[in-house]
Amino acid sequence: QISSISLRRVLDSRGNPTVEADVLTESGGFGRAAAPSGASTGEYEAIELPPKEAIANAREHAVPRLVDTVYAGDQRAVDGALRAADGTENFSEIGANSAVAISMAAAKAAADVLGAPLYQHLGGAFRGENFPVPLGNVIGGGEHAKDATDIQEFLAAPVGAPSVSEAVFANAKVHGAAGDILDERGIGAGKGDEGAWAPPVSDAEAFEIMDEAVSRVSEEVGFEIKFGLDVAASEMYDEGAYQYSDGEKSPDEQIEYIAELVEEYDLAYVEDPLDENDYEAFAELTEQVGDQTLICGDDLFVTNVSRLQDGIDQGAANSILIKPNQIGSLSDTVDAIELAVRNGYETIISHRSGETEDTTIAHLAVATDAGFIKTGTVAGERTAKLNELIRIAEDAV
Ligand code: PGA
Ligand code: ZN
Repeated sequence: QISSISLRRVLDSRGNPTVEADVLTESGGFGRAAAPSGASTGEYEAIELPPKEAIANAREHAVPRLVDTVYAGDQRAVDGALRAADGTENFSEIGANSAVAISMAAAKAAADVLGAPLYQHLGGAFRGENFPVPLGNVIGGGEHAKDATDIQEFLAAPVGAPSVSEAVFANAKVHGAAGDILDERGIGAGKGDEGAWAPPVSDAEAFEIMDEAVSRVSEEVGFEIKFGLDVAASEMYDEGAYQYSDGEKSPDEQIEYIAELVEEYDLAYVEDPLDENDYEAFAELTEQVGDQTLICGDDLFVTNVSRLQDGIDQGAANSILIKPNQIGSLSDTVDAIELAVRNGYETIISHRSGETEDTTIAHLAVATDAGFIKTGTVAGERTAKLNELIRIAEDAV
């Protein structure tokens, strides 16, 4: 049984406060987890409250329902109590940030009681043997960096890597190669929120640089590295059109543009190429290029089973980004993953642009046999997850 829960504010990678939870059990189990935070958040995400408010409300409503009542290892009961304490559809009372921190900390406390790693506790005895391919953010802009690319993320996808660690190091090399190419071109670049280069270049030039960087590193390491995108198109969508620095595109033009990019660059992955309300356009693009690439819904699905079910019904996308804090609990997260898997949708477990050293998503990706994990490349709060993945792979093989 859970014997105590403490909540505090800690720093995230953007310098903002976020919620951290400690869960203790009667039998001496301990789990600690922190909520991440998005900048290009989807309209339909669960609600992140200001951390002070989220903590105060969770202390008042959620903690009394959990302490001395619920077993940490009974994840459905933990998350059910969080839902009951909150009483809304979107965690707007206790905050999805408090909820997800408690939910993840309880899972870790339960794993601690069992003396098992978190991925084993979450995945159980029938977990598969696959390891997720890390998608590494190399160049970016959008809401994550000013005066950089319109497309939010250009991501390395080391699809041919023989192991997790080789994939992780390959992504770091692609990030390095992109830095070299920027240097060669005399372009100075800072970094965005996730540590990707944020150069003042057009999207067209970013494509050239990515293409060159992945082919250089591919040749060096001897396996195939592709690349992909998070367009984060909802952020550009305004007055019926996608607003680029060099002009606007209608939804039909956007579909055509993305389909051409998939062809030209053999993209492995395209996230949120269209607005979060436009299932129809997603379905059209998926129809056109869904057999060649992953069309992934992030803001479209927000890790929400009912939005995902709508997408499945309409043929929108063929993969889903999974962010536990978009929905607020691990149970809801796993429900979304299971619905996706049952319908042949690939799953990509993801960080947020605001992160901490918390490594829960690395365990979740392994536990659920996710095809991919998106967790950045070379910033400390990103390497925390990547290094954990390397450790898990060593432990689990
Ligand atoms: P966010 O962006 O964490 O700022 O929402 C990440 C993403 O869009 O995938
Ligand atoms: Zn996204």
